[in-house]
Amino acid sequence: MPKSLSRRRALAALGAAVAAPALLGRAGPAFAAWQRPQLTMSPLYEGTLGDGRRVFDLAAAAAETEFFAGEMTATIGINQSYLGPILRVRTSEALRVNVANGLAEPMTLHWHGLNLPAATDGGPHQVIAPGSVWSPEFEMRQRAGTYWYHGHMMHRTGAHVWAGMAGMIRVEDAEADAAPLPSSHGVDDFTLVLQDRRFTADFQMPYSLSMHDVMAGIAGDTALVNGVVSPFLEVPSGRIRLRLLNGSNASFYNLGFSDRRRFWQVASDGGLLAAPVELTEALLGPGERAEFVLDCDDGAAVSLLAEVFSAEVQMMGGRGTADFLELRPTGPIRAAGAMPDRLADLPVAEPSASVETRRFMLQMGGGMGMGMMGGGLTINGKAMDPDRIDVEVPVNQTETWVIENPSPMFHPFHIHNTQFRILDRSGQPPAPRDAGLKDTVTVAPGERVAVQVRFDDFVDPDRPYMYHCHILEHEDAGMMGQFTVV
Ligand code: C2O
Ligand code: CU
Ligand code: CU
Repeated sequence: MPKSLSRRRALAALGAAVAAPALLGRAGPAFAAWQRPQLTMSPLYEGTLGDGRRVFDLAAAAAETEFFAGEMTATIGINQSYLGPILRVRTSEALRVNVANGLAEPMTLHWHGLNLPAATDGGPHQVIAPGSVWSPEFEMRQRAGTYWYHGHMMHRTGAHVWAGMAGMIRVEDAEADAAPLPSSHGVDDFTLVLQDRRFTADFQMPYSLSMHDVMAGIAGDTALVNGVVSPFLEVPSGRIRLRLLNGSNASFYNLGFSDRRRFWQVASDGGLLAAPVELTEALLGPGERAEFVLDCDDGAAVSLLAEVFSAEVQMMGGRGTADFLELRPTGPIRAAGAMPDRLADLPVAEPSASVETRRFMLQMGGGMGMGMMGGGLTINGKAMDPDRIDVEVPVNQTETWVIENPSPMFHPFHIHNTQFRILDRSGQPPAPRDAGLKDTVTVAPGERVAVQVRFDDFVDPDRPYMYHCHILEHEDAGMMGQFTVV
């Protein structure tokens, strides 16, 4: 964790966290009787097999979602009213995804974390017109892990994801099958999309940004898990696994449990770590995933909490908290055994393997700080231009990309089409939980993070992939660039 965060331990103070969402105070008497709702899990969607391919049908459409009893909120969903199904895929399967755009505006759908041809990536160039269907075909090359998909329309990514255009991808393989970890979906293994949303007094969540929101990113005071406000979840009284996505537009979540119990992080963005890492808290930036394993074998309810670092919070020197989920153990207590001490074969990254170094400077208005008007959100001084290729990367070349953050905010830097390794943070080796495969890395103010990347296929000099800040308001405002594999 960046040093600037480790000084600000607040989880300890959260033991007696509020049970009701922050909205309660604002909504008045209607919610005097608010009770934690039960978590609903998005369905596992296996698609259909045909043509030697696994075929998924996804349909995006405007919808209404009942986040608060009796109140309907306008949303966008995929095959449901908010968010989408969890796609279940095995490594090396051939896929076709039919993405139907039922909205009145163009959209795209991007497969975050996957290595695939640029034409199938679903970034800003693969636009799906209203009423039409886009059907990319690609092979699942990722190892087992927790990936996701989301809207990525130029200048509209923030709006679309805020409204609900996102879902999870659960990839399985033989190595993960063999790991002695909980793995029954919905039984002892739960896939959770963590988000925060800002609701109006009439329970809508319009995406109308002030200039401040553009600079700070949009954040809210209501915690959602899979689209449910601060729910509870019944879990077996034993060992469980949580596959977590920070699906917020702009908030950083320093996650931990209300009683500060230890847990193990077993996977990062690109799947299993070499070994479990024991923790009591873990920072997850927008777009990042982590899998936690914890023991609920004392029969006591415990809550998954987050100390929330939105830009707003950072700039005001304060902190917010989110009470995401209460875990309620049920059934006979099953003592959990020792954790395995190895999970996967993951060689340590070798800095000397890199033959090229590139720099990416994340800038906000030339260092004038927050709060200035119309500040440029750029990378290396340039705002995203879909007609400009910023970097041409030779195929099969191992490179070091150095991401520098001279701005006063944290930025989660994401690179398409790859799982990279963190080499160092301002010269310090990555923490064990950061030493696995990553596609998004949080860069603290003043920090310089070196990552090792390599693109070993899919040469296409005409179609770029993106790299960008995963604060979606920053991405939409220009903190994004394009690279081709040549
Ligand atoms: Cu998760 Cu370019 O995006
Ligand atoms: Cu991506
Ligand atoms: Cu940013």
